[in-house]
Amino acid sequence: MKSYSEISLEKFNKFKDRNDYIILAIESSCDETAVAITKGREILSSSVFSQIDIHKAYGGVVPEIASRNHVEAIDKVLDEALEKAKLTLKDIDLIAFTKGAGLLGALLVGVCYAKALAYALEIPFIGVNHIKGHLAANFINSPNLEYPFIGLIASGGHTEILKVESFKGAKVLGETVDDAVGEAFDKVARVIGLPYPGGPEIDKLAKTGKAKYKFTRPFKGQDHLNFSYSGLKTGVINLVHNAKQKGEEIYPQDLAKSFQDEAIGFLVDNTIKASKQNNIPKIVIAGGVAANSYLRQEFEKICKKENIDLYIPPVWLCTDNAAMIGVAAYEEIKEGAMPDDLSLDADPSL
Ligand code: KG4
Ligand code: ZN
Repeated sequence: MKSYSEISLEKFNKFKDRNDYIILAIESSCDETAVAITKGREILSSSVFSQIDIHKAYGGVVPEIASRNHVEAIDKVLDEALEKAKLTLKDIDLIAFTKGAGLLGALLVGVCYAKALAYALEIPFIGVNHIKGHLAANFINSPNLEYPFIGLIASGGHTEILKVESFKGAKVLGETVDDAVGEAFDKVARVIGLPYPGGPEIDKLAKTGKAKYKFTRPFKGQDHLNFSYSGLKTGVINLVHNAKQKGEEIYPQDLAKSFQDEAIGFLVDNTIKASKQNNIPKIVIAGGVAANSYLRQEFEKICKKENIDLYIPPVWLCTDNAAMIGVAAYEEIKEGAMPDDLSLDADPSL
């Protein structure tokens, strides 16, 4: 009798060179339980259950609560994704899922669920790097996007500039040495008294504010492309603290605008520099912070002026979803990736 590995590999070898096989993708790395059905760079359906309202009460994601809610939600989210695509589990050729980075307990729900499902259906599965998933979101909206390009990943856990010559071959040109930009948005929002997640709240509030507070940009005059956001965060905290002590009023909308201008300005300046230094006039942006309206506006303005092609996913594909994981798996398989075996584990610090 053939083993699961033999059967699933045989199936994989039959469809891997086509582009019409059906992927069921699962994402559970943080506070979104998401399932999508994808085919090539196309979404057949996408379902996201966001736990934001559950974690709001705690001012941030509570890992144990996130894991429990993934367990509770995943069956329903899967059913919904299949129903929307008008497909059944029998139609699925491959399962893709986020293997890391993320919260260990949260990741494990998706990893175990995906592996068990693949085993029961006798089909192959593949674990995907969450960051690569964010990048892949751009292929959904721009299926003709070609390499090479300069990638900017701006999320709650990552801030990186990449030189991307193939899906496999992404080279890190610069990254944060401390906080991620989304993390800075969330922490500053808390100081201002805004609910979790802070990014969209600051985005909204900043629209009515003036950039009257100035912050010092780290690494000025240095030639690398790294970021640092902990100084900016501390700068905001100190400003609020000092004003309180002196009995001075701080206008939250002005603080939000000042912080946002600096946080986004840093991303814009380094990414444009990377594009020029590498002579690659194509920028591809991904991650939750790519949903920021000021970021979108600034990149559009400067890329137009500098004659740089700009790609940003629609807002709903910037934050965590499973469609990007399905498309990332497709891109990896196209470049020769093989299915994973049952020993694959979650990797929180991938
Ligand atoms: O990519 P994502 O959904 O999850 C991670 O992989 O981290 O990113 C979430 C991050 C959070 O820090 C959230 O505050 C931020 O993206 N974010 C925003 C906006 N929408 C989400 N930051 C600034 N402006 C936004 N509109
Ligand atoms: Zn993410």
